[in-house]
Amino acid sequence: MGDLERLEADILEQVDSAADEAALEAVRVAALGKKGAISELLKGLGSLNPDERRERGGAVNRIKERVGAAIQHRRDALREVELERRLATERLDVTLPVREGPQQAGRIHPVSQVMDEMTAIFADMGFSIAEGPHIEDDFHNFTALNIPEEHPARQEMDTFYFPEGADGRRMLLRTHTSPVQIRTMMGRQPPIRIIAPGRVFRCDYDQTHTPMFHQVEGLVIDERAHLGHLKWVLAEFCKAFFEVDDVRMRFRASHFPFTEPSMEVDINCDRSGKELRIGEGDDWLEILGCGMVHPSVLRAVDLDPARYQGFAWGMGIDRIAMLKYGMPDLRAFFAADLRWLRHYGFATLDVPSLAGGLSR
Ligand code: DAH
Repeated sequence: MGDLERLEADILEQVDSAADEAALEAVRVAALGKKGAISELLKGLGSLNPDERRERGGAVNRIKERVGAAIQHRRDALREVELERRLATERLDVTLPVREGPQQAGRIHPVSQVMDEMTAIFADMGFSIAEGPHIEDDFHNFTALNIPEEHPARQEMDTFYFPEGADGRRMLLRTHTSPVQIRTMMGRQPPIRIIAPGRVFRCDYDQTHTPMFHQVEGLVIDERAHLGHLKWVLAEFCKAFFEVDDVRMRFRASHFPFTEPSMEVDINCDRSGKELRIGEGDDWLEILGCGMVHPSVLRAVDLDPARYQGFAWGMGIDRIAMLKYGMPDLRAFFAADLRWLRHYGFATLDVPSLAGGLSR
């Protein structure tokens, strides 16, 4: 066998045994690339005399053609095999059930659900949503709400204070949503109808208290809002929220610095069975504090008490959520335990609405 035939046989054998396209490409470069064996042979032809050059040149070029064709052939075969492999492994069974996406797997926390329910109810009555910062100052959280420096309510609130700032002021974590009343009245003119749901903070921790919890504040200010309106708003709310036809309410005289008169509201319930039933029975359940906005509060936000009046209420959201959905321990609310959330949470796409149903 001459050197040319040996070279050809050698290359063809490498072509045949190339296991994939990368290996085949390496064979091609080694044979036909710029410095490949066949290319080098062609370059060497220059040193031969014309007759030898013609003869050997012809032979080398035929080898080059055959090798080229063999490589092309092998490449087609490898591609075919690869395609077969992918068709076999990447098969998709379109009849399989659809896997649960995040919208189905995720859950809405009961507190968020209850806030959405409250929002749906009060929005339907013409209330809008107001918000305020969690980090408040003394004025909005206390002073403007008619809670002066020496007032016992300041101590009762178990306030978290920040260290004194450069200006000598100490900011605090708001202890209730009532400062949003102040911000709203300072920010716009009556008529005002808002609710303000959100987080509040007090230094307290046991089975029924956590240092962070949620309240919703309500505020109505205009020239003639009165206790009758307050009573109607709260009664409508209770019926819609607890999803019952009727609920009895008891207004007990109480005291809050920011309202005069002040009341605490109980609704009737039945505790005789396993679960608490709202709107049935003769037991009472306290659910909120309320009253007519104190003239000193109106003056603090530059509203004339001779012209404007209104009512306000404040309610704890977490406890109401526990009552409505039968969750026994408040601390589990904020333990971020996924098993709890999967059990008590709500489907993400079931947005509460009065028309569609609050809770399904
Ligand atoms: N801010 C009160 C609290 O945290 C709740 C409250 C009571 C709010 C009466 C009000 C109200 O607006 O009128 O205990």
